[in-house]
Amino acid sequence: MSLLHLDKATIKFGGLIAVNEVSFEIKTGQLFGLIGPNGAGKTTCFNLITGVYKPTSGSIKFEGREISGTPPNKIAHLGIARTFQNIRLFGALSVLENVVVGGFLRHRTGLGSAIAYLPPAIKETEELKQDAMRLLEVVDLAHVANVRSRDLSYGMQRRLEIARAMATQPKLLLLDEPAAGMNPQEKMDLTGTVRRIRDEHDKTVLLIEHDMRFVMELCENIVVLDHGEEIAQGPPSEIRNDPKVIEAYLGEAV
Ligand SMILES: Nc1ncnc2c1ncn2[C@@H]1O[C@H](COP(=O)(O)OP(=O)(O)OP(=O)(O)O)[C@@H](O)[C@H]1O
Ligand SMILES: [Mg+2]
Repeated sequence: MSLLHLDKATIKFGGLIAVNEVSFEIKTGQLFGLIGPNGAGKTTCFNLITGVYKPTSGSIKFEGREISGTPPNKIAHLGIARTFQNIRLFGALSVLENVVVGGFLRHRTGLGSAIAYLPPAIKETEELKQDAMRLLEVVDLAHVANVRSRDLSYGMQRRLEIARAMATQPKLLLLDEPAAGMNPQEKMDLTGTVRRIRDEHDKTVLLIEHDMRFVMELCENIVVLDHGEEIAQGPPSEIRNDPKVIEAYLGEAV
């Protein structure tokens, strides 16, 4: 079944066409990669899908329903969650609390009210805490549940972002450079984690990543952007050998 369908999605910022008629379709259960050089429009695609921006033209459908122009909190409720390229955690809160905050999104109207309710609500919501602990186990952070999130290593903070996104119980999980700043061992572990999230937790995953080995090993389908344009789409075996992709990444190993 088609879960997410972009059809000629376009957004202009003044004279710049950041995303230009980009089309791709993700089926339920897929592990999908979105790649391209710096400034290609990858994060902007996430911003379009999550309602941060409204497309200038084109359509974005989630479960067959048009979502372009829908506000971000409504899109979150429909079942799309994301992590951020620049980590956005509540540094003073514990690892567990950060995930609980994510869980509030499901129960209340948004992150703002979640924060307003935080001190009393955290005491009351034992159930949310238990859910959060289970998610921390998924991303191998249960052992640091009570550590302040700003004291975590960079790689751990990235994994925490994933747990927090999952706390909203999304159908589609968008990961913006989840392996950035990780060492090779952490990247390998993350590959396993993302696979488990798809296989055991029934999520569909769309991820942006610069590390080609990571993307090629993990993703079944890849769409490649360059200067806002879609230049290729297909399985890793095709993408790896596509002359347009090689040219876009000139000098980089694909
Ligand atoms: N709100 C905005 N206003 C103006 N220009 C923007 C805005 N958001 C993004 N852009 C521009 O759109 C282009 C695509 O940016 P985007 O962040 O999507 O790239 P990216 O593929 O995620 O790159 P990177 O790999 O560096 O993260 C860039 O030229 C960027 O400067
Ligand atoms: Mg980006």
